[in-house]
Amino acid sequence: MAYTTLGYQVQDGIATVTINRPEKLNALNDAVIADLGAAAAALEGDAGVRGALLTGAGPKAFVAGADISELVKQDPIEAKRRSLAGQSVFRRFEALRKPVVAAVNGFCLGGGCELAMACHLRIASEDARFGQPEVKLGIGPGYGGTVRLPRLVGRGRALELLLTGEMIDAREAWRIGLVNRVVPREQLLEEATLLLRSILAQGPLAVQAILEAVDAGADVPLAQALLLEANYFGLLASTADMREGMHAFLEKRPPRFEGR
Ligand code: COA
Repeated sequence: MAYTTLGYQVQDGIATVTINRPEKLNALNDAVIADLGAAAAALEGDAGVRGALLTGAGPKAFVAGADISELVKQDPIEAKRRSLAGQSVFRRFEALRKPVVAAVNGFCLGGGCELAMACHLRIASEDARFGQPEVKLGIGPGYGGTVRLPRLVGRGRALELLLTGEMIDAREAWRIGLVNRVVPREQLLEEATLLLRSILAQGPLAVQAILEAVDAGADVPLAQALLLEANYFGLLASTADMREGMHAFLEKRPPRFEGR
């Protein structure tokens, strides 16, 4: 697949997807959203890909938001179509059964913050800045910001960010639980890769089941979520990986997971 706005490289089972419009701080225009949809499909379909990193090209930004030069022209029908299209692409990343880590290298605003929140984990460079500035443009978020931000950081903190449009720095983003880790800029991709590799070293069926259980259990009543968890727990008891993991522990040796 040829992408016009993305870099897409696969190495040792890890796909790196790089949003590549640095001259516009990687703002998400419709072409980027379409390419991201294609990339999500490629990540899903390629058996050689076990996990993914998502980052932005250039020194300044992960993504500085949706492309305002497109938004300025939209009518209500087009705006709704754009919102639904972006939401469905971001949801594809969130619903992937392979871990996706956002490596946030600078401004992470609006649609950028929404994209990072749809990834499973977020690791930020020390100079990253986060925000949902839509309110300053007379709009609200359209790619999941009002939905995922309260779930990640709590309603009060989310509303402060959403209603003021103010940016926070990486340390504050870490403090409120918006990002998992903050690292020096020059170590960002290396640390994100190490984090992803530490996940990929686990049993792949267990990783997949945990991603699925957390996603499927997020918005259902407690009793149903607990039952889902028990079902996954039961399912994993059928795997060679479970036997291998437990025997390896009891025999005091590292496990050799085979994904079966
Ligand atoms: N949409 C379209 N273009 C954008 C953009 C966006 N969300 N964010 C940045 N750009 C463009 C700028 O227009 C500029 O283009 P130009 O060189 O052709 O004029 C280029 O990217 C560089 O941005 P600039 O504003 O000059 O950089 P800066 O370092 O002075 O400021 C920001 C950086 C992130 C503070 C500022 O670009 C900004 O506020 N961007 C919009 C953030 C936003 O509201 N996002 C939510 C959108 S719904």
